[in-house]
Amino acid sequence: MIPIAKPQMGSEEKQAVLEVLDSGIIAQGPRVKAFEESFAEMCGVQHAIATSSGTTALHVALLAHGIGDGDEVITSPFTFIASANSILFTGAHPVFVDIDPVTFNIDPTKIEAAITPKTKAIMPVHLFGLTCDMDMIIAIAEKHNLIVIEDACQAHGAEYHGKRAGSFGTGTFSLYPTKNITSAEGGMITTNDDAIAESCRVIRQHGMRRRYYHDELGFNFRMTDVHAAIGLAQLQKLERFNAARAANAKFYDEHLQGVITPTAPAGYKHIYHQYTIRVPNGKRDALRAHLKERDIGSGVYYPLCIHKQPYYIKDLGYDQTLPVAEQATREVLSLPVHPALSQEDLETVVAAVNGFSE
Ligand SMILES: Cc1ncc(COP(=O)(O)O)c(C=O)c1O
Repeated sequence: MIPIAKPQMGSEEKQAVLEVLDSGIIAQGPRVKAFEESFAEMCGVQHAIATSSGTTALHVALLAHGIGDGDEVITSPFTFIASANSILFTGAHPVFVDIDPVTFNIDPTKIEAAITPKTKAIMPVHLFGLTCDMDMIIAIAEKHNLIVIEDACQAHGAEYHGKRAGSFGTGTFSLYPTKNITSAEGGMITTNDDAIAESCRVIRQHGMRRRYYHDELGFNFRMTDVHAAIGLAQLQKLERFNAARAANAKFYDEHLQGVITPTAPAGYKHIYHQYTIRVPNGKRDALRAHLKERDIGSGVYYPLCIHKQPYYIKDLGYDQTLPVAEQATREVLSLPVHPALSQEDLETVVAAVNGFSE
């Protein structure tokens, strides 16, 4: 079986975990601090704040920016549910803007039409490891005085004109096992703003600045040192992992036939969290079954847009058509691109895709 994802755990991660267990400091301790410092450096920002997941990173980042009841946050309908749910957790309302058909990311030319007096923030989601058009998004945010919270949960090390994802506004990352690097579960917030960083730290830990004095409502969204130890060991390997993914993607680009392969616009460094092809003419599911018969894993990210999810329709009353995103849900197929693939695996995938005819 060639799996769609495969976490890469080596002796470094195992050794690091054992050291934490032996150290006696297991909850948020020195490994978390070291992981935060290294992660901030990787992104080129002043601060990184570790959390228990990408979802809690988004939730905390939104709260730290004061987003809450009645506010609107503009984001993509074509993303993992946590992007939008984190907005709901604060009491705010996600406003979905259609995507660009080539990059699968929010179409910046459609953002301004969605801005209302209630709009407080834009949440660009750097899907599949490719950043959004950040020049346009930052320009719109500045013009309308909006906050930018990047969902960089799939974009560790991705770049837009030399700047890393997570360094444009307040960044949020997931460290779930299928991501380019993992801490088993975990999240990270990145920012250059001292006050936002401080606020994130306080919200992460029960609204507590002084031990057992609670200035505001907070949560237990801490990361453990066990998770941080794994994350820190993985972070040392990020550039190597991303280079391996890029090389695998290049092989697919050069050899796949009969499908639409992903493209990164000039100046964008794609880190191929997913290698997502388009299979037009209603043939996507048949190709997926064809790959499965040959023991090749694939993934559909995502089969249903967020504004079409049952909860969003029935309970929240969303009633909207976003044709580009909806077409993508019918055509996208992600192929294995992770660093554990051998040359033989790549050739097997290419032969299976190119040999498909329906
Ligand atoms: C785009 C996006 N946003 C948010 C999340 C949430 O991250 P986590 O699963 O770590 O809570 C994910 C993770 O799958 C994601 O892909």
